[in-house]
Amino acid sequence: MSSVANATPDQLPAWKALKEHADALKSVHLKTLFAESSTRFDHFAHQAAGVMLDLSKQRWQDETLDKLLALAEAAELPGAIKALLSGQRVNTSEDRPALHTALRLPPEASLEVDGEDVVAAVHASLEQMEALVSRLHAGQWRGATGKPIRHVVNLGVGGSDLGPLMVTHALADYRPDDVHPVEVHFASTMDGSQLADYLSRLNPEVTLFVLSSKSFTTIDTLSNANTAKDWLLGRLTRQGATPISAELVIRQHFIGVSGSPQKMRAWRIAPAHQLRFWEWVGGRYSLWGTIGLPIALAIGMDNFRALLAGAHAMDRHFQAAPMAENLPVLLALAGIWNVNFLDIRAHSILPYDGRLEYFAAYLEQLEMESNGKSVTRQGQAIDYSTCPVLWGQLGPNAQHAFYQLLHQGMQPVECDFIAPLKRYDDVEDPETRRHLQTQHRLALANCFAQSRLLMLGDDAIDDEGPRPPHKRYRGNQPSTTVLLDQLTPHTLGALIALYEHKVFVQAVIWDINPFDQWGVELGKQIATETQQIIDGQAPADHMDASTRGLIEAFWAADE
Ligand code: F6P
Repeated sequence: MSSVANATPDQLPAWKALKEHADALKSVHLKTLFAESSTRFDHFAHQAAGVMLDLSKQRWQDETLDKLLALAEAAELPGAIKALLSGQRVNTSEDRPALHTALRLPPEASLEVDGEDVVAAVHASLEQMEALVSRLHAGQWRGATGKPIRHVVNLGVGGSDLGPLMVTHALADYRPDDVHPVEVHFASTMDGSQLADYLSRLNPEVTLFVLSSKSFTTIDTLSNANTAKDWLLGRLTRQGATPISAELVIRQHFIGVSGSPQKMRAWRIAPAHQLRFWEWVGGRYSLWGTIGLPIALAIGMDNFRALLAGAHAMDRHFQAAPMAENLPVLLALAGIWNVNFLDIRAHSILPYDGRLEYFAAYLEQLEMESNGKSVTRQGQAIDYSTCPVLWGQLGPNAQHAFYQLLHQGMQPVECDFIAPLKRYDDVEDPETRRHLQTQHRLALANCFAQSRLLMLGDDAIDDEGPRPPHKRYRGNQPSTTVLLDQLTPHTLGALIALYEHKVFVQAVIWDINPFDQWGVELGKQIATETQQIIDGQAPADHMDASTRGLIEAFWAADE
């Protein structure tokens, strides 16, 4: 994508200019940048789609941003954004578009890919999903013994789990109260721990499983699904005097969501209970379509559509806003500056709202599976850093766990603080509302205090005298604060889309493909081979000494 033929990003003049600029700015403490300008916040804070982004606590100044914007231009970012949103084949190694943004286009829009109007197809799939949700919410979906379904367990992993799990948890307050109650659960782990728990306490007569897998080949999900199927068959076909057929049990207790109708058919999922999506939706970008079924079940279809509308509002902003005011672009550039020029290669995600408990886990896949790459789109080895190590936790809890390292460790870390401005307005009981709003203010105070302390270090507080070295804080740790007006389906949609586009912008600048994940394939293959050895169906002789030793330890324990 770079404008200089065959140049890697680090050979661009704009990259070199940033290197020189970083050398000059590296020794300047963030507190100095704040002392020099009282308008930093006004200057570096931007808003769109109910999201405010404060980038003033980044270790940068106007000149830095100008140079980063020049790098984005040199990497042909505006053209890349157009290519993404218009359905060009931006996923080069798999030769397909990455059209998750089409999943949130309004019905009146149109977008053609390979001769198909994808908007019409998307809305047809949403309507099919809505019909299933309505049946469950009306209490009209009955299990094989005739009782209405009360529990839905999503069986999926990675993108077929993390997005739906994160959003369902974040928007639990939006559960519709005028519908037949259906509880939504998630089981992802291949060892069966989560599933075993559900099987021990749920009633099979009123439990339905969603087999959620784009490929329908993921062993983690299929092994959970096989265990669930046998549990249902074992319990239900032998119920009462009249025998119940296996076909009826599978029809009434399984929904399939996949890109492969053939494989759903082979699994004997009833055609009417198959929800489809397309090759051009990447797994970690799939929560907006039928993979979002658990979300729609938990919060209702109207709220699900509000989530899509929020994401679409951020898409429109990403498409139309000038680069210098474009939230995803600015968030991405802050990351590029930290990773490639300040050598800060750890990034922590710190929400100050318990409803965002799974946000960091969701972003870990979105960012690291997308941009954890080491070759360019043309296959050249890369000589600069790409995706940082990203991890996180609820900020208030992390304060009592790993903030020690943020404040006094040897590792520079970029932090994202995320919080809603308003909360608990709708709590009915005035006394409880007052208490909870006080707790919300407490969380916000901690959020703002922590980013300030990370920025200023010792200067954040007036001391009587100098503190001993072990009580000192150096500060100068960069952070971004993301504030939502409130956490609603609309603002959450916009927040997720903000990060999706940030990942894309960084990939364009690093000249990598964010839409494939070849780095997870080999592990799947060699696990299959290892399983054959563990099961005694293949020899262990060619294994390295460690792996052989571990396998033999298992055999010894299994005797
Ligand atoms: O193994 C990685 C991965 O392919 C992810 O990209 C994906 O989200 C996850 O597995 C689940 O894949 P599927 O939806 O095909 O089961």
